[in-house]
Amino acid sequence: MLDFNSNDYKYRYNEVTQLCKEIGLNEDSIMIEVGSYNGVSACIFGSIVKTVYCVDIFNSSYEFDQVMEYNNSLKPDNIVKLVGRSDDMYKHFCNEYADFVYIDADHNYSNTMKDILHWTPKVKIGGHIGGHDYIRNETRDRESRMYSQGDVFEVIHDIFNDEVGNVNIDWFVKKDINNKYIQKICSKSIFQY
Ligand SMILES: C[S@@+](CC[C@H](N)C(=O)[O-])C[C@H]1O[C@@H](n2cnc3c(N)ncnc32)[C@H](O)[C@@H]1O
Repeated sequence: MLDFNSNDYKYRYNEVTQLCKEIGLNEDSIMIEVGSYNGVSACIFGSIVKTVYCVDIFNSSYEFDQVMEYNNSLKPDNIVKLVGRSDDMYKHFCNEYADFVYIDADHNYSNTMKDILHWTPKVKIGGHIGGHDYIRNETRDRESRMYSQGDVFEVIHDIFNDEVGNVNIDWFVKKDINNKYIQKICSKSIFQY
């Protein structure tokens, strides 16, 4: 069970709050978290923004529900649990709905690519897309990376090149109308997957 006083939670709290500050999230912001697991990051985002929509298959649903029960900073409609696969749930959101979409689901190459392709249109112009596990892995060659876990760094660089900002291992990119990478993604022309 999540311990809100543990060092792990405090570390993650500092990381996530710094990310929110960096991209200007506040009590009016709407965000979508793709991959919420037991709700640790959702609780932290929820303490800063108006609403966090949590999209996950929730195999560990029991713990998420328990964590929300013990999260005493919850406000009405603050954290909304949405059970389903990311490659289906994106269809239920209007385009340009969220100030921030945070991707932290399946980290293999093609699913990370799909998530970015599917969810970037859901971000408002001027908002941000971002996510977790932005970790360079120097040791694997490109072919083996394609089929393994943990390819976020490679996907982000293949799509966004030098447009990426980061706070520790969280990455973010602004959806600026002039950003050519974002434009290509929104017109679904950047990659075949
Ligand atoms: C790394 S955990 C998320 C951790 C959470 N963001 C945090 O920092 O506390 C990844 C989650 O993604 C979910 N997930 C993986 N693939 C998914 C998919 N295709 N659709 C929806 N959720 C998925 C898993 O069920 C898991 O709960």
